[in-house]
Amino acid sequence: MLFRSWSSAVEAPWPDVAAVVDQVGVRHLVVTRHALVRQVLADPVTFRPDNALDAVTPMPVTALRVLAGHRFRLPPTLANNSGASHPQIRAIVADALHPTRVAAQRDWLTALVRERVTGLAARLDAGGPVDLYADLAADLPLLVLARLVELPDAPVGAVKDFARAALELFWAPLDVDRQLTLATEVGRFHRVLRDFAATGGGLAAELRAAGQSPDVVVGALFFLLVAGQETTSQFLTLLLHRLAGEPAVRAGLRAGEVAVADVVEEGLRLEPPIVTWRRVAAVDTTLGGTAVPAGTSIVLWLARAGRDPAVVEAPDEFRPGQRGSRRHLAFGAGAHRCVGDVLARMEAAVVIAEAAPLLDDVTVVRAPWCPDNLTFRMPDAFVIRRR
Ligand code: HEM
Repeated sequence: MLFRSWSSAVEAPWPDVAAVVDQVGVRHLVVTRHALVRQVLADPVTFRPDNALDAVTPMPVTALRVLAGHRFRLPPTLANNSGASHPQIRAIVADALHPTRVAAQRDWLTALVRERVTGLAARLDAGGPVDLYADLAADLPLLVLARLVELPDAPVGAVKDFARAALELFWAPLDVDRQLTLATEVGRFHRVLRDFAATGGGLAAELRAAGQSPDVVVGALFFLLVAGQETTSQFLTLLLHRLAGEPAVRAGLRAGEVAVADVVEEGLRLEPPIVTWRRVAAVDTTLGGTAVPAGTSIVLWLARAGRDPAVVEAPDEFRPGQRGSRRHLAFGAGAHRCVGDVLARMEAAVVIAEAAPLLDDVTVVRAPWCPDNLTFRMPDAFVIRRR
């Protein structure tokens, strides 16, 4: 279950806090209820975020050597930072992603998506297949991020390959050969980031000017390049796929009876790209009556918390605007809550408004396939064809 938690049957009964042993024998406590997940997220003193980026399959010396050869380091910066530097780093990143700056990208993104959708509709009309992941969702978030935050001048494909390699290296069950391949890919790009962190403008320059060390600047860029674009590409793909099977919702959108923003929230609740997120117990404590020794890995099952009948009226149904729909924890909560939520929501709203009509009168040739991963869905494709 641990590595395919989105495919676990929703109706399957789960204790509020379940002990699960992973593929290398590490014991995790999986938290399944909305109130308890929230309680953990709201208490960063008892449940620290320090393990957020720990590799779930410990790295062998060979892979560590490859990373060290590229001077790879991931010091506490954002998601894994419980230290005193977190508020300042977070504030600088939040400024770059401020809602007014995000809103200023909306027209540009709408024009780009509209142009693409016109081309994709023509291909569908001509009887051809269209991959809504590769042809639409994959690069859009990176293109927007690059306009908000100055990024290294690397081809989109190279950044996507690096980001997906990082998600696999840190969050997937792996064998040694695969770890070595991924470490090589991640290490190589990390070197590009290190050069950029020393000289680049935009966010990198802001962090340097605030006195942050080169390692911190690299760490922040690393996390943003992964969390700030790959997550949203995944979400767009999963949501479009979900909508393909929700004709009544699409009809509501067409008729103006269903709000795009409500579709996005219900999508985040039912199809979150990040299904779990980790914390580590800092002290001996209890959670929902379960003893939690200090050092225990806590796996917060965000996707299941979104389907908790205690907070949502019809937990398993895609009903935009229903009571409790917005109470999902897809973006986390508390001091480390996602700072890209406004951006992700804007991107999703634009794509759904423009691209949902592509899903009318089509058959799904290839549904997204998601590999084993503790945290990220990572859909690989979503291919449709005119019926
Ligand atoms: C649908 C898309 C996204 C989802 C579901 C998502 C989800 C999350 C989650 C679950 C966390 C951990 C929260 C916690 O520990 O309480 C997080 C943190 C974070 N996210 Fe996102 N995210 C998305 C998009 C983005 C985007 C677009 C950006 C920036 C461009 C971004 C930047 C960050 C950052 C910087 C953090 C760390 C915040 C901190 O530790 O202070 N995310 N996100």
